[in-house]
Amino acid sequence: MSDQRLPAVQAINQLDFMSHSPAQTERVGQRLGEQLQPGDLVLLIGTFGVGKTHLVKGLARGLGADDLVTSPSFVLVNEYRAGPQHQAMPIYHVDLYRLAETAELATLGLEELWAGDGICLIEWPERVAQSLPAEHLAIHIQHLSETKRRMRLAPHGPRYVSLVGTFKGTTFG
Ligand SMILES: Nc1ncnc2c1ncn2[C@@H]1O[C@H](COP(=O)(O)OP(=O)(O)OP(=O)(O)O)[C@@H](O)[C@H]1O
Ligand SMILES: [Mg+2]
Repeated sequence: MSDQRLPAVQAINQLDFMSHSPAQTERVGQRLGEQLQPGDLVLLIGTFGVGKTHLVKGLARGLGADDLVTSPSFVLVNEYRAGPQHQAMPIYHVDLYRLAETAELATLGLEELWAGDGICLIEWPERVAQSLPAEHLAIHIQHLSETKRRMRLAPHGPRYVSLVGTFKGTTFG
């Protein structure tokens, strides 16, 4: 999934754009984060070092979180807290790269995270492709050059089509 080149033709409802710097990726994340609502699930798809965690930093900032966003290392899930304007809801930052085997998945209790009233942001969702909810926002990031990234927001389900529509209006409109 992650090594695939994004096809040149995008489907209706999808949104393609470029990021020219880490700071721009964070700003884009911030704009999108401002629009997130309790229960939202966002999948971050792309190769090593492409910018998934940078985008999560922006998303957390847009949600008003003051916490330091880092790559989950020994644990697979970091939890942050959104600001008061976002009901101080929990933000679960999941990185499944180190998920050893599917058995470990059960102990993680991911289903509870994405079924809850928090925000769930998942790096390397390919690891659990079979178990993911059908409704989610997929963000594909592709490495173009040292500082250029191609981003594609692909909504799955009506909630996410509406989210991408609002994001497009406020960010590019
Ligand atoms: N336009 C850009 N957007 C995001 N990151 C960029 C961009 N240009 C360069 N970078 C660099 O790419 C790296 C992205 O690192 P980051 O940890 O966000 O990647 P990641 O996708 O989370 O990697 P991993 O798969 O290891 O978790 C950083 O070193 C950042 O400075
Ligand atoms: Mg990362």
